[in-house]
Amino acid sequence: MLTDRKILLVVTGGIAAYKAIDLASRLKKLGAKVRTILTKSALEFVGEINFRAITGEPTYTDQFDLAEPIAHITLADWADIMVIAPATANIIGKMANGIGDDLATSTILAFHKPILVIPAMNVNMYNNKAVQDNIERLQIRGINLMIPEKGMLACGYEGRGKYPPNEEIIPAILTYLQYEQTISSKYLITFGASQEDLDPMRFITNHSSGKMGIALARAAYLRGGDVDVIHSRISETLPYYLEQISKTLSAEEMFSQVKEDFTKANVIIMCAAVADYTPKIKEEQKIKKKEELSLELKRTQDILHYLGENKREGQILVGFAAESENLVENAEAKLKKKNLDLIIANNISVSQSERSLAYLITRDKVEEFQGTKFDLAHKIIDIIEAIKKDVNKY
Ligand SMILES: Cc1cc2nc3c(=O)[nH]c(=O)nc-3n(C[C@H](O)[C@H](O)[C@H](O)COP(=O)(O)O)c2cc1C
Repeated sequence: MLTDRKILLVVTGGIAAYKAIDLASRLKKLGAKVRTILTKSALEFVGEINFRAITGEPTYTDQFDLAEPIAHITLADWADIMVIAPATANIIGKMANGIGDDLATSTILAFHKPILVIPAMNVNMYNNKAVQDNIERLQIRGINLMIPEKGMLACGYEGRGKYPPNEEIIPAILTYLQYEQTISSKYLITFGASQEDLDPMRFITNHSSGKMGIALARAAYLRGGDVDVIHSRISETLPYYLEQISKTLSAEEMFSQVKEDFTKANVIIMCAAVADYTPKIKEEQKIKKKEELSLELKRTQDILHYLGENKREGQILVGFAAESENLVENAEAKLKKKNLDLIIANNISVSQSERSLAYLITRDKVEEFQGTKFDLAHKIIDIIEAIKKDVNKY
């Protein structure tokens, strides 16, 4: 995934500096070459030895080290991406003002490739107007920043300022190695397996994990999209930065939530595995054991069909087709029948793993795809953004 990609990790003097050791380890396991710069303050929290031992690459601390006299230039030239994790309020302020008074900041000034900043600090420091102004200045310059997580901070305060999970930093690195934050659309993405109750204890569901929808939400958000999600049962934790999420469990609940939200979106991706049938009667009491039991089912509302009929001009509608046979033919028919702009035909035999084998089908093209769900998510977004550009041309 990150094989031979060169990552320059800059660790600054925050309480979360120890989490950068785990980040370095994860990046190395993914095949990346990781070199680390530690600020003078960072060395108060962690040691160079941690990073050297884990990455197998040199570490750098001193701008005037005679062994490496112009490290700020050689390191800037060497790396494909720079990740500042954790980033103190101090380094963010220096970056915003173009200060280069140590090795980390001089290297940042000499760096002309993607930069990812992971701010982490006390909530009052983070909300400080000076810090917020500095963050805004960096964003305007095209520097990628991840919003800190909300939660209990090491200082005892509760609020936004927490270093995010490294699991969420890695997809961001993968994204910014290839893409800029250029999406301005509002995305509505549904995912997960619906749950149709039989009685207070039992329900009918399906094997959908929600992984594809989460990958899509992640990719769209990291590329700058405004993302709303509606989800039912999922087997993975949602990224911390997705807020105001609607949780709906049954097909009927999802239908009413989608009806409420879809007009606000420019792009609607229906990735949820919604039941086609639901029990005719939901028993109030637990169904008693019998020799035989028959269930009577009725059709649920076809959400995709409703959206195809009700979408406004320019609104892009994307659907999924999980099939076990005649993948492309069935998906092409569904694309036309449901008035979709793009359909992703998935082979269900590989759909529950991290990898995907899929066909991306638009009105005029069929493309085969093999790779991770996250790469597929980016590919889907590329196609959506190209369709949007085409639509806006007229
Ligand atoms: C115990 C302790 C914890 C600190 N934690 C943070 C922190 O989480 N975030 C932050 O922005 N500053 C934090 N600071 C303040 C920075 O260490 C200080 O601003 C320093 O000058 C940062 O230098 P640097 O940006 O060059 O690494 C902390 C200071 C101390 C003493």
